Amino acid sequence: NQQDKKVHMPDMLSFAHRGASSVAPENTRAAFAKGVELQADFLECDVHLSKDGELVIMHDDRVDRTTNASGYISDFTLAELRQLDVGSTYSKEFAGESIMTLDELLEEFYHQVGLLIELKNPQAYPGIEEKVATLLLGYEDVSSIILQSFDVESMRKMHELLPDLQVGVLIRPTDSFLSAKSIEDLTSFATFINFNVSFINKRMVDKIHAQGGKVLVWSKKDKRLLAKAHKYGVDGVITDFSNWPTNDPIYL
Ligand code: G3P
Ligand code: CA
Repeated sequence: NQQDKKVHMPDMLSFAHRGASSVAPENTRAAFAKGVELQADFLECDVHLSKDGELVIMHDDRVDRTTNASGYISDFTLAELRQLDVGSTYSKEFAGESIMTLDELLEEFYHQVGLLIELKNPQAYPGIEEKVATLLLGYEDVSSIILQSFDVESMRKMHELLPDLQVGVLIRPTDSFLSAKSIEDLTSFATFINFNVSFINKRMVDKIHAQGGKVLVWSKKDKRLLAKAHKYGVDGVITDFSNWPTNDPIYL
């Protein structure tokens, strides 16, 4: 587009939302590989528990939208989930993609790129924090891994289980005004406080930074808002536009 404006954002980390989900089926091996190829700093993913207690990667708590089956993830064993096609609903080109476990994601991508792991609905999965902690204990250096959730208590627990691990709290749009007291509480254990890009302003970013916290914003595709977030000085952006090399310009 002739009218597009070139903006440099070398100072913000880029997170590939559900992998490079603008060009491959979300939360799949293909999307994560594409995120690496497109030089995202981190891959974002969502984690649930299968019926037999395995940590599996999918966004929704049901398999309906992204697979050829129907039902809750928690009603399928891992072996059953592995039979599902997680690529075809996106495009025939990705037919045959199968669900990944968190273990596999770490094995395949930990050495290549940072990982932002979201516990999607931890209250529905008692013990999920301990399972994640046990898995991550197998990794001596967890500095390139961040855990996040909308569930504050779950992240407080993750911090207690693994104090070296950076955790982030996702703020719901309806709760996006944070009092000084809540910022102080959240930054006492969470490194990141993460907002939908539409619900953040410079004062909030400044207040969180003043408490030593960092701010990530997520947006699917709104480049105008992302440019605004950049002006506010956020620390990173979680976006489907993972063809956004950290040190290269994007066009707005
Ligand atoms: O990482 C933030 C973002 O992923 C939260 O929204 O629904 O895409 O998991 P959602
Ligand atoms: Ca997510």
